[in-house]
Amino acid sequence: MRVLGLETSCDETGVAVYDTAPGRGLLAHALHSQTALHLAYGGVVPELASRDHVERLVPLIRRTLDEAGLGVADLDGVAYTAGPGLVGALLVGAGLGRALAFALGKPAIGVHHMEGHLLAPLMEPDPPGPPFVALLVSGGHTMLLEVAAIGRYRLLGETLDDAAGEAFDKTAKLMGLPYPGGPAIARLAAGGRPDRFTFPRPMTDRPGLDFSFSGLKTQVLLAWQRHRDEPDAAADIARAFEEAATETLAIKCRRALAETGARTLVVAGGVGANRRLRERLASAARADGFRLAFPRPEFCTDNGAMIAFAGALRLAAGLADDAPLHVRARWPLESLPALPAG
Ligand code: KG4
Ligand code: ZN
Repeated sequence: MRVLGLETSCDETGVAVYDTAPGRGLLAHALHSQTALHLAYGGVVPELASRDHVERLVPLIRRTLDEAGLGVADLDGVAYTAGPGLVGALLVGAGLGRALAFALGKPAIGVHHMEGHLLAPLMEPDPPGPPFVALLVSGGHTMLLEVAAIGRYRLLGETLDDAAGEAFDKTAKLMGLPYPGGPAIARLAAGGRPDRFTFPRPMTDRPGLDFSFSGLKTQVLLAWQRHRDEPDAAADIARAFEEAATETLAIKCRRALAETGARTLVVAGGVGANRRLRERLASAARADGFRLAFPRPEFCTDNGAMIAFAGALRLAAGLADDAPLHVRARWPLESLPALPAG
């Protein structure tokens, strides 16, 4: 089954075609990032995001189909991100996706953006299967989930305030770095010393799998205000922040694996592209003997491939949405229907 995937939940327009036939997989994908559009505002401006999706989506679909050597009539279904996200932006992909499917007489399905992230590592060669623990770390979410089957998700812990990516973004902003802050902090941190500053590992000193990142940002602010004029302060603070954030995530992942007895950890979402996080989890995996799976870095951040893939799995299992258009700004992952067994 060849499925077109459309991602328009935030500031990336992503398009891909995924083929569920054995040996096929991802046929083509294309991405347009709006980073430059929002740069001057220090964050995503929802209305500008929606308008840009309107302009980019059709040309990107054409490009992706060309690259795959397909015409629209070769598609067997359409998947689009239905939430969570910016409602205006979501409506662009949902409206176009449903209209295209209707015109073709093919099924369409609204995909949960975080399920897209969660399943992205399964597009890679030799993918792990459930049961596993998933760490989802994006700009809007930080979650640990127990995945019993595709579509059966149990929330183990989540952030009580800022998401992990948001912590990177806000830390970058207070240090005068451009949006999005994650890659900017990571670049700066690469040249910094890990031991000049030490920031707390929030909520690791007590049991539980929830996170809290807003206090960490305050600690960074205090250090930045006191030391900003000293040589290498920015790089050293960025490095200490990255150490604190990634170690906190790694501690909770190990705890989640121990509590569930799972032997596999899957990591996805924008912060999953962070090199230091990958290194830390890889050494934890060696020490504890669990399997670790990441998507390639470009599929950690938002993309159409993960939506095409998650949608293709659901459409191939016979699931599809009725004609009315539904998008959701908030959407609990645990409310998804599970795929039929087998
Ligand atoms: O998954 P994503 O593209 O969008 C959401 O669904 O939110 O995640 C974006 C987030 C941003 O907060 C960005 O700063 C962060 O992921 N990010 C990173 C890195 N690359 C992106 N954070 C840390 N290190 C990175 N290399
Ligand atoms: Zn995302």
